[in-house]
Amino acid sequence: MNKTLPLVDNIHIPQMGFGTWALKDAKQATLHALQTGYRHLDTADYYHNHTEVGQAMKDSGLRREDIFLVTKLYGSTLASAKVGPAVDRFLKELGTDYIDLLLIHWLSGTPAEESLAAMEETRAAGKVRAIGVSNFEAEDMRAALATGLPVCNNQIEYNLEVRADDVAEFCLANNVTVTAYSPVKVGGRAKARKLVANLAEAYDSTPEQVTLAWLMAKGFIVIPRSNNPKHIDSNFRSLELTLKKEDVAALDASA
Ligand SMILES: NC(=O)c1ccc[n+]([C@@H]2O[C@H](COP(=O)([O-])OP(=O)(O)OC[C@H]3O[C@@H](n4cnc5c(N)ncnc54)[C@H](OP(=O)(O)O)[C@@H]3O)[C@@H](O)[C@H]2O)c1
Repeated sequence: MNKTLPLVDNIHIPQMGFGTWALKDAKQATLHALQTGYRHLDTADYYHNHTEVGQAMKDSGLRREDIFLVTKLYGSTLASAKVGPAVDRFLKELGTDYIDLLLIHWLSGTPAEESLAAMEETRAAGKVRAIGVSNFEAEDMRAALATGLPVCNNQIEYNLEVRADDVAEFCLANNVTVTAYSPVKVGGRAKARKLVANLAEAYDSTPEQVTLAWLMAKGFIVIPRSNNPKHIDSNFRSLELTLKKEDVAALDASA
């Protein structure tokens, strides 16, 4: 069971995705994730692994429409004349004819309105199904939404240690889904770490499962990354873990 969240225009995104940044063997790990049940892959031009991710999708034997594919444009491809050609290259590298969700990886010189307008053209051309952003602060988000374009996702760092609640709250209040990146990053404040360890024991689960279940209970999409098949499997099983409301509240208060 991989719960989905509504994104935009009757498009749904699996709440649990697989992060592919800096994997030792991106093709093998991504294939294992797909075989485990993940149906949402998070890649980026910056990760230089489109070919491996595309190959894993092909080798999985899954139908293209059963996989939700996210990738991102970064600095040198954000100018309006660069977006279209970059998307065409991504499609070739990924071996697909559409991207489910295309994000601005981070703001870097080109105004967001310019990139988003060009991204919208790729959406109108059927090469991309939805558009969004990443690493946007609340102010950036406000400007992105003011364009009137269907910006439906902000991918931000959110974990036990880094909690951009102002951004997350602003996004959720404005129907913009939030993807928590680096969700199981080691760290976190001592208080949070101790609480997670106690909860893991109480729920007979792992600290990473508790952390992922907490983030999903808060309505976030999560994209844990792992090279280790056991971790890929156990992270996925956090979908089966429902934390009690008071435990979610205690984790919220552990910052
Ligand atoms: N938009 C952005 O700017 C941005 C920035 C950063 C990341 N991201 C995306 O978010 C994804 C996830 O973030 P991330 O890769 O930074 O960090 P992460 O997924 O939070 O953590 C990955 C690390 O945690 C370990 N790990 C994973 N599951 C574990 C488990 N069950 N038990 C113990 N250790 C575990 C992994 O080691 P093993 O391999 O040994 O399991 C790896 O070292 C990225 O892959 C990328 O797709 C986006």
